[in-house]
Amino acid sequence: MTYIEAKNIDFAYPKRKKVINDISLKIYKKDITTIIGHNGGGKTTLGKLLAGILKPIDGDVFICGNNTKDMSLGQVGKKIGYLFQNPSRQIFTTNVCEELLFLSKLGGKESTEGYGEMERLLNFFELWEKKDEFTFNLSYGEKQRLALAAILMNKPEFLILDEPTTGLDKLRKTRLSRYLTRLEEEGVGMIIISHDLDFVKAHASRRIEIARGEIINDTR
Ligand SMILES: Nc1ncnc2c1ncn2[C@@H]1O[C@H](COP(=O)(O)OP(=O)(O)OP(=O)(O)O)[C@@H](O)[C@H]1O
Ligand SMILES: [Mg+2]
Repeated sequence: MTYIEAKNIDFAYPKRKKVINDISLKIYKKDITTIIGHNGGGKTTLGKLLAGILKPIDGDVFICGNNTKDMSLGQVGKKIGYLFQNPSRQIFTTNVCEELLFLSKLGGKESTEGYGEMERLLNFFELWEKKDEFTFNLSYGEKQRLALAAILMNKPEFLILDEPTTGLDKLRKTRLSRYLTRLEEEGVGMIIISHDLDFVKAHASRRIEIARGEIINDTR
C-alpha cells in the first residue's frame, strides 16, 4: 500500500527560486526509505512536504490518500511523527517530564497510561535522571533524544526523522538503531533523512538521493 504519494510537486520558499523541482514519488510503509544527498539539496524541504508541514506550490502530496492541502497539522500529526533537524524547534515546555506528558495530553491519553509510557521512554533514552531538569539545560544530544521520545509518546504509525543521528555519540547511535529496529519490527514505517551513510546502510531498504531539488537516484 502506498502510504505517501507526491505527484509532480514543486516548492519554493517565499520570493525564492524553486528548491523542489517536479518530484513524483511513492512511499511504502513496509520500506525504510532513506533520503540522502549533499547540503542544500532539498532533503529537509522534501521531508516537510511529505509530512504535510509544507504544502507544494504545484502538484499534490497525499498521505493515506488524503491531500495534505486539505489536512490540518493536527490531522497529519496523528499519522506521522516528525523529528526536526534542530531538536530545539520542537521542545515546547521547560521541563523534561512535562514535555512528554504535555504531548500525551494533547493526544488525549489517560494520564496514568501517559505516565507509564513516559517512564519507559525516558529510561530507554537514558533521560530518567534528567526528568526534573529544565529542557534548556540539556545538551544537544539529550535534546535530540527528548524530542524523539516525545514524538514516540503518541505511537505514530509512520516516522519522518530528519538527521536523527546528529549530535549523538556512538553508544547513543547504537541504541537509537536498536530502538528504530524494534519500531520497524512493530510495523512503523519510516523515512530517515541522513548524511550518516553507515546509519543509512544499517536501516535502509530503499535509498533516494536528491540534488538541486530533483531525485537523482532511487535504489533498493
Ligand atoms: N526557510 C527558508 N527560506 C528560504 N530558503 C530556504 C529555507 N529553508 C531552506 N531554504 C533553501 O532551500 C534549499 C534546500 O534546503 P534544505 O534545507 O531542504 O536542504 P537539505 O538537503 O536539507 O540541506 P542540509 O543537508 O544542509 O540539511 C537550500 O538552498 C536552502 O538555502
Ligand atoms: Mg536538511
